[in-house]
Amino acid sequence: MTRQAASPGLRILVVEDDATHGEVIRDVLEQEGHEVALATSGRDGVALLDAQPVDLVVTDLRLQDMDGLEIVGHCRVLREGQAVPQAIVVTGYGTVEGAVNAMRDGALHYLQKPLDLGILRETIRAAQSRIALERQNRELQTAIDKSYSFPGIFGQTHAMQRVFDVMNQILDTDATVLVGGESGTGKELVARALHYAGPRRAKAFIPLNCAALAEGVLESELFGHEVGAFTGATAQRKGRFEAADGGTLFLDEIGDMPLSTQAHLLRALESGEITRVGSNEPLQVDVRVVAATHRDLDTMVREGRFREDLCFRLRVVQLELPALRERLADLPHLVEHFLAEASERHGKPARIVATETLDILMSYRWPGNVRELKNAVESMVLLSRGETITPDAVPPYVRPAAGDTPDILKSLSGLPADDVERALITNTLRDVGGNRERCSQLLGISTRTLYRKIKVYGLSGHGQSADPAGSD
Ligand SMILES: Nc1ncnc2c1ncn2[C@@H]1O[C@H](COP(=O)(O)OP(=O)(O)OP(=O)(O)O)[C@@H](O)[C@H]1O
Ligand SMILES: [Mg+2]
Repeated sequence: MTRQAASPGLRILVVEDDATHGEVIRDVLEQEGHEVALATSGRDGVALLDAQPVDLVVTDLRLQDMDGLEIVGHCRVLREGQAVPQAIVVTGYGTVEGAVNAMRDGALHYLQKPLDLGILRETIRAAQSRIALERQNRELQTAIDKSYSFPGIFGQTHAMQRVFDVMNQILDTDATVLVGGESGTGKELVARALHYAGPRRAKAFIPLNCAALAEGVLESELFGHEVGAFTGATAQRKGRFEAADGGTLFLDEIGDMPLSTQAHLLRALESGEITRVGSNEPLQVDVRVVAATHRDLDTMVREGRFREDLCFRLRVVQLELPALRERLADLPHLVEHFLAEASERHGKPARIVATETLDILMSYRWPGNVRELKNAVESMVLLSRGETITPDAVPPYVRPAAGDTPDILKSLSGLPADDVERALITNTLRDVGGNRERCSQLLGISTRTLYRKIKVYGLSGHGQSADPAGSD
């Protein structure tokens, strides 16, 4: 972030009913590079404040038609999408009391008449720095709000922003959602976020792992049962559907649900009614279903292991979570987050990750995705000796063994070197979200060399082919 340069000029409104005096102030401020509007009455001042964006108001305290304090107060009226203008008041001799009141009402400074133009310039410069800082904070906050649109879920890469976009679009609906993605990519996290950020949050979020239960038990867990429905059913029991009434039912590992249960689930989803095992009486339920699986349901449908109609019914909306290796640009941020969490939990001072350590983490494939990263960071925190996490704290399975030829390199033997290099640069650039500096670090070449190769191979910044037809 390089916004340290000279602060941009301000939009200033001068309210002064002595026109000559007002013009002097205006000229001085314009010479300082600001955009200045002059109002020669309180009423005009208020009108201008409402009509155009203003960063700073310089107002006389004693106006003919209005108390300057009213102008200060009017600055605090919230205007959609605009920051509250700051105010500086100008007071005549012997009205310090008014200045004190103005400061209490939120004015930034007061200046005494007769105006010392040097002091005026200095005061405005101080206000300018403050306004610039506030503006920067606001922009940063907007960027943060946008990138972490769901509490606890981190992801600034396009891949994750796309996920957040879809989540935002479906938050207020009852649409059934199917969340896909490899193990540890955050499927359950997303399901919970959809519930707790949506209109059903006051009601229950009920998870059920379909892989953990035998067929009969799963049926009665889902739909409940009546007394005597099966051997051992000595009491009536409500199922998870009923427990989730008004809320969300999270069906985890839906790909592992037996075919017969799939048929019952489909019926429940289509009719909005369930029937307890051993009963003939349907019950109305109002449940949003979010399902998750790490399996490829299309293949399962082709192989006859998953009902096609249920598959369609579940994926009214499909959210496919990217693997961590496909969004490596998020890794440093996730590391930082998990580091803070783990060092606090274990009371360890570890706070800094050495560059070489980060390089190792960036080079690993992370088959267990974010969960594996979280565990690795925790273990690194526990094994670190000081504030800095050095490479020796990295778990051995993450660290490449010296002298090893990775299997993947063995399979490249005999391929044209240019093709391999092109693919290497393309993939690495994509993984780091187009960050060329990071890419060159990982590849061990200078950024200049990288730029040259990007040009030679006709790649765009993100590692895609520069040919527009080839980009997504
Ligand atoms: N984007 C993310 N930001 C922060 N933490 C994350 C993110 N994704 C996953 N995690 C963390 O990683 C761990 C695994 O997430 P979760 O249980 O949601 O994964 P999953 O996809 O359901 O995995 P599995 O298929 O193995 O059940 C959790 O501790 C979760 O908090
Ligand atoms: Mg899970």
